[in-house]
Amino acid sequence: MRIALFDSGIGGLTVLSHARRVLPSEEFLFFADRDHVPYGTKSVPAVRGYVRAAFRFLVEQQKADAVVVACNTATSVAVDEMRRLYDVPIIGMEPAVKKALEQDAERRVLVTATPITINGEKLHRLVSAHDEKNLVDLLALPRLVEFAERREFVSQCVEEYLWNALTPYDLRSYSAIVLGCTHFNYFKDTLRRLLPKTVGFVDGNEGTVEELARRTGLTTVSAEERTAWCRFFESGRAVTGAESLARIESYLARAARMEQIV
Ligand code: DGL
Repeated sequence: MRIALFDSGIGGLTVLSHARRVLPSEEFLFFADRDHVPYGTKSVPAVRGYVRAAFRFLVEQQKADAVVVACNTATSVAVDEMRRLYDVPIIGMEPAVKKALEQDAERRVLVTATPITINGEKLHRLVSAHDEKNLVDLLALPRLVEFAERREFVSQCVEEYLWNALTPYDLRSYSAIVLGCTHFNYFKDTLRRLLPKTVGFVDGNEGTVEELARRTGLTTVSAEERTAWCRFFESGRAVTGAESLARIESYLARAARMEQIV
């Protein structure tokens, strides 16, 4: 089966990294909209236009059999329209609020995402549906997307940015931080240093791949060494240059390391 994963940039590689290991026999296409990243600070109509173009490319030209929108921001504003337009299974990503509250229904939960996701109706509906005790706080961290795109993962700037953003919260009363943007997974090592040990990470990566398998009738295997074949595209252009492919591999290697941090 030909499975497309789509993100504004390199965040979705954290989902691909997992998907390729548990579905090693499938054919993957990864589309990073490098010309338009970041999405999270742009206007909603602009992001909708980018997502339409990506779907035209992936479904109409590349004949993808299923599409994973490995981007919470694009899911927030455009997944409903894409489901109306295309017949293929479309798996979106939303901040894993429900999962975090199911794990601990007493302590607070800090949901982090891009400004579009944080301000979006979809997230507000999700929180209202599950947060009966008013335990959820929402925090936009747009600069993490910029840092990730320029491969600045561990630096004083990153640390100060996160420190300043997290300082207003009494983190000892939180059970979890929800990584509601796929770019944020690259910062788990820095976040681990800044957060109390009692705060766990919750993201939607595994759940999204499980949902993909469920919707397409595929069976996942336990993560192995062998990874599925993948072709990479940047805003519709095939990535073939050795330097660009090496850049992608370095992101995938970091994504795999970050998956181990709990
Ligand atoms: N990685 C994306 C997400 O999950 C969006 C980042 C951006 O382009 O702002 O929301």
